[in-house]
Amino acid sequence: MIKIAPSILSADFTKLGCDIESVRTADYLHFDVMDGVFVHNLSFGFPVLESVRKFTDMTLDVHLMIKSPSRYIDDFAKAGGDIITFHVEAETPEIIHKVINKIHKHGKKAGLSVKPETQVDVLFPYLDLLDIVLVMTVEPGYGGQEFQSAMLSKISVLRDLINSRGLNCELEVDGGINFETAKLCIEAGANVLVAGSDMFNSADRAAHIEELRNP
Ligand code: DX5
Ligand code: ZN
Repeated sequence: MIKIAPSILSADFTKLGCDIESVRTADYLHFDVMDGVFVHNLSFGFPVLESVRKFTDMTLDVHLMIKSPSRYIDDFAKAGGDIITFHVEAETPEIIHKVINKIHKHGKKAGLSVKPETQVDVLFPYLDLLDIVLVMTVEPGYGGQEFQSAMLSKISVLRDLINSRGLNCELEVDGGINFETAKLCIEAGANVLVAGSDMFNSADRAAHIEELRNP
């Protein structure tokens, strides 16, 4: 089954509750954290996550675009993240193993993400430990960018590996997802689609979620 994860980075923050309600039929709610160091942009952090946690029982899919995420795993787990995904470029291999363990010790799902310029094979040693792997299909930092179709081969490679190893690891894509690119990503093997600007620009979001599930 294809899962849809609306990214609240593209929501209207003056009516965040209404915007979350408008996508409540989705599978996950994607929460982009940016520190102005790992990526150029700044977004939001714990106070917003805590408020969102109190407001909705949707599965909160936290995407950490921050340097040295090991510093903050306890806080994001306590603030209410259900899935905590960090970037393979943000820590050394030894720390990456520790961070995955720490996320699991909190009873949360652990994810690892790759930027577009990073080779996909850096993820291979961790796949057996992960609940979700996130392929960035734009440069992380901003919503509304154009989908990078060169990333489709990464998705296919990961799908083959996940299937051949018989892993229970979800395969998520993030950036530039719309009706057309959703189709390409699903064909390549993705099963979780993040959608930001395309989702929140849509007048009928419930219908849009259904369209993205079956593009
Ligand atoms: C980008 C973020 C995305 C972003 C996607 O750094 O990780 O989650 O919200 O936005 P769209 O769907 O507009 O590309
Ligand atoms: Zn994201």
